[in-house]
Amino acid sequence: MTRMKLAILISGRGSNMEALLKTASGDKSHLEPVLVISNRPDAAGLGIARGYGVPAVAIDHKAFKDREAFERAMDAELRKAGVELVALAGFMRVLTPWFVNAWEGRLVNIHPSLLPKYPGVDTHERALAAGDAEHGATVHYVTSGVDEGPIIGQSRVKVMPGDTPDTLAARVLETEHALYGLCLEAIASGKPTRPVERRMVLKFDEASGYLDLWVPAAAG
Ligand code: GRF
Repeated sequence: MTRMKLAILISGRGSNMEALLKTASGDKSHLEPVLVISNRPDAAGLGIARGYGVPAVAIDHKAFKDREAFERAMDAELRKAGVELVALAGFMRVLTPWFVNAWEGRLVNIHPSLLPKYPGVDTHERALAAGDAEHGATVHYVTSGVDEGPIIGQSRVKVMPGDTPDTLAARVLETEHALYGLCLEAIASGKPTRPVERRMVLKFDEASGYLDLWVPAAAG
């Protein structure tokens, strides 16, 4: 089986990255993680990636004169490693149109809201402030507008009485870890990834609310 060469871009703890590395270690995975890049040299995720035997490099954005110079350094590493698919996983740099165009159709992101609701930051605070009954996460292709590209899959959780931004974030994060791998496997296996049409119940629990996923039809 041919596996798609995957790079994961991070800035911090890397829990979504680790979930993807676990998915990719499965016998039936269509993903081959070949590189992890962090723009922050102190990102905890770098050590985790190396623990999985995946080459992990820091490219400190502060060392470059502008965004594009930093991105050209990342682009060179990605090409050297033969990367075919780039997954942003808590990567906290806005990318320029140059990089987005160079990787268009091969660049995906996970965002902690039910896009198109709440692009940008503080998504959990905003969902609570709005009194939303549901919240979740979205995997989408990256385009030059922030958090705007075509949606590949979404996970959804119930907002519970007494939720704080932290409790809600934790419940959403648990679904992110399942969602991202499902969406990337669908892409890597060459199955159509749109429209988002299939709902999969991952867990239902009266006390903690529910987690469910809408994933590409081909992903299950
Ligand atoms: C996740 O909530 C992700 O959706 C967002 O940033 C967070 C990254 O967390 N883009 P981690 O580094 O994957 O643990």
